[in-house]
Amino acid sequence: MSTNLLVQFEELGREIDSEPLDSHDAVDQFRIRFLSRKQGQITQLLKQIPAVAQEQRKEFGKQVNRLKQRVEDRITIARSALQATTKTLDSGIDLSLPGRRPLQGSIHPLTQTLEDIKRVFASYGFSVAEGPEIEDDWHNFTALNFPPDHPARDMQDTFFLEPPESERGGILLRTHTSPVQIRTMESQQPPYRVIVPGRVYRNEAISYKSYCLFHQVEGLCVDEHITLGDLKQMLYVFSRAMFGQNVKMRFRPSFFPFTEPSAEVDIWWPDAKLPRGGRWLEILGCGMVDPNVFASVDVDPEKYTGYAFGMGIERIAMLRHDISDIRILYENDTRFLEQF
Ligand code: PHE
Repeated sequence: MSTNLLVQFEELGREIDSEPLDSHDAVDQFRIRFLSRKQGQITQLLKQIPAVAQEQRKEFGKQVNRLKQRVEDRITIARSALQATTKTLDSGIDLSLPGRRPLQGSIHPLTQTLEDIKRVFASYGFSVAEGPEIEDDWHNFTALNFPPDHPARDMQDTFFLEPPESERGGILLRTHTSPVQIRTMESQQPPYRVIVPGRVYRNEAISYKSYCLFHQVEGLCVDEHITLGDLKQMLYVFSRAMFGQNVKMRFRPSFFPFTEPSAEVDIWWPDAKLPRGGRWLEILGCGMVDPNVFASVDVDPEKYTGYAFGMGIERIAMLRHDISDIRILYENDTRFLEQF
């Protein structure tokens, strides 16, 4: 067949394929254009077959019939598609509506922060220990070297389940995770390298910055030759992992009955709105384990030294996510939670 004819057939095929048959009207027009008895483009070609030269007739007829089939196929498919849409519209189901998104859970910002803290310390050989939330006076106070008249023992700060003057000398909701230092050292031989995540309770006025319960992570590292330098290095590495490589931190002398010397650690929080371009924020308390604590659990203070630290998880989560009210962490409002 001549190339001229071939090109013509090909073009016709493309026209057949590209017509958008998106309505019943469009399909009718399409059918008339190609197949109507008088002027249909395909009909015209079919009429020409007898006039084509003998050697080309067979091939010509084949091509024309192929095009005719193509037109008929498109019409059948378009009609049944249009019918299906009409049906679903009649039945009230709109297949073009976007689907309903299933509610997807997310990890609570406190849990996320805790997981990050655990990961950092795990990579330095700390394992995770846990202890009870209902404690006795011995583990929460006495063994930690709190003097009998220390203000933290006051009803104002501590939730007592049995008062201090009762038979068992006071059963309470632990006010910090430090009693797990005592439980760890009572039940195992040194060296120790543990972190202790958990809930703690304090009888405080509830406000945007304090709640009656919160979470802490305690750390305890005891071995031969552990120094204040080890403590500083560990906390420095920790702060960099949590707050970025450029974090600025400082140790500020402080006091805890169970550590000597004691310090609080602040990190510099840049904030362009503040006159000095930022401020120091306290993130944890720490120090070298007091020999009196070793004595209460029968660890030899001549042989062993160690450090301990304790940090509030809420504080750190609030800093990282710019949360300004601690109470929102306990409300389980999904509009808040689904942002994490
Ligand atoms: N337990 C202390 C607190 O709750 C924190 C702390 C832990 C300080 C370990 C020193 C060593 O404030």
